Amino acid sequence: MRDVLPEEARRWRMVERAIVDVLDRFAYEEVRLPLLEAAELFTRGIGAATDIVEKEMFGLSDRDGDSIALRPEGTASCVRALLQHGLLHNQSQRIHYRGPMFRSERPQLGRHRQFHQVGAEAFGMVGPDVDAELIQMGAEIWRVLGIEGEIQLELNTLGCSEARAAWRGALVRYLRPRQGDLDGDSAKRLERNPLRILDSKFPATRSLLAEAPKFADYIDDDSVRHYEGLKRLLDGLGVAYVENPLLVRGLDYYSRTVFEWTTERLGAQGAVCAGGRYDGLAEIIGGKPVPGVGFALGLERTLLLHEAVHGAGAPPPVDVYCCVLQPEHQGVAMARVRALRDGLPNLRFRVHAGGGRLKNQMRRADQCGARWALLFGEDELRENRMGLKDLRNETPQETLGLAALVERLRTAGMDST
Ligand code: HAM
Repeated sequence: MRDVLPEEARRWRMVERAIVDVLDRFAYEEVRLPLLEAAELFTRGIGAATDIVEKEMFGLSDRDGDSIALRPEGTASCVRALLQHGLLHNQSQRIHYRGPMFRSERPQLGRHRQFHQVGAEAFGMVGPDVDAELIQMGAEIWRVLGIEGEIQLELNTLGCSEARAAWRGALVRYLRPRQGDLDGDSAKRLERNPLRILDSKFPATRSLLAEAPKFADYIDDDSVRHYEGLKRLLDGLGVAYVENPLLVRGLDYYSRTVFEWTTERLGAQGAVCAGGRYDGLAEIIGGKPVPGVGFALGLERTLLLHEAVHGAGAPPPVDVYCCVLQPEHQGVAMARVRALRDGLPNLRFRVHAGGGRLKNQMRRADQCGARWALLFGEDELRENRMGLKDLRNETPQETLGLAALVERLRTAGMDST
């Protein structure tokens, strides 16, 4: 679990804000959900035989001895919360959430035990149109972040649960007599979670799979129509995709559409964002059936990719550093800066604290990356004015009243409103 220190946190905020802006512009509404849930929510929702539940959940008991768990993902919690508050009854919802998720995985680049997701979920809509909207929203996020050239969309359909069960049976019947040729993990998965064998990277397993029963022979007609409809919409929107029949996802709740946005820039942790349709989940966790579809993007991986493309630069933490020449003027200076903050809401003002010589205060201004220094000296204050020094250009210092100063900083392009 990592600490995110100020410089990195500035990049996080910038990227997170850009992502959430996209979700807002698609009119998805925010929910904030607890980090702890009854462990059973995930055992049932994600599936008892998945790696997440079997190996990766951080579980604990509360005082009554009930099993609770730190959430390993947000979808099950989101469905639980909306069901519990009656927000899925005869209505559709478009929701987003973000925050830390917890999985006890082996940490490496782009894989952490506490990581952060931004998720979007849509409920109450059965057609492929909303699947396409979610994918379009993902594409828009990559465009806004300027990383669209590094990410590709992989798409698949898992059909309805009956079709999947029939295929799963055929796959097990095919693989059982060949179990000895499977890699160790796949052999273990054969009875409990055979579809995950399709994820195997081992050449011997993969060559066995080449001859295995194909889902195309088992899929139901409605799911085919749904999938074709989705592809047509994506084609119309100009969203490129690669069909990957081996994409099965690591959570059991999916039906029909599944997708992953992947990159080659991050080595083994190539999935930046993933999701799909989960029409059976509400019922599995004890509600009435409600169709749902969504995705979650991994913030750490998105940031790594953003850094790989744009570098690790972050905006400086301070725009205007305010130097107070005499300690007795501190209060007046703070009051003036309050008015400036009102007039220039997009600029960050830091008022020097602790006194000291002007030279030292100017050094602080420079160190924190401020573009401007604002000087509150005896003469300026008497005349109801402030000194303004551009720290990045060799222009002479100016002395300005409040209104002129606001105008000056705004026209200098410092305030983006
Ligand atoms: P997931 O594929 O388990 O899906 O996770 C989504 C994304 O979270 C991954 O693509 C990855 O970027 C990030 N992620 C997962 N585990 C880690 C980790 N240990 N460290 C860093 N990043 C990680 C879900 O969680 C589903 N709830 C997605 C969804 C929403 N499906 C429908 N709606």
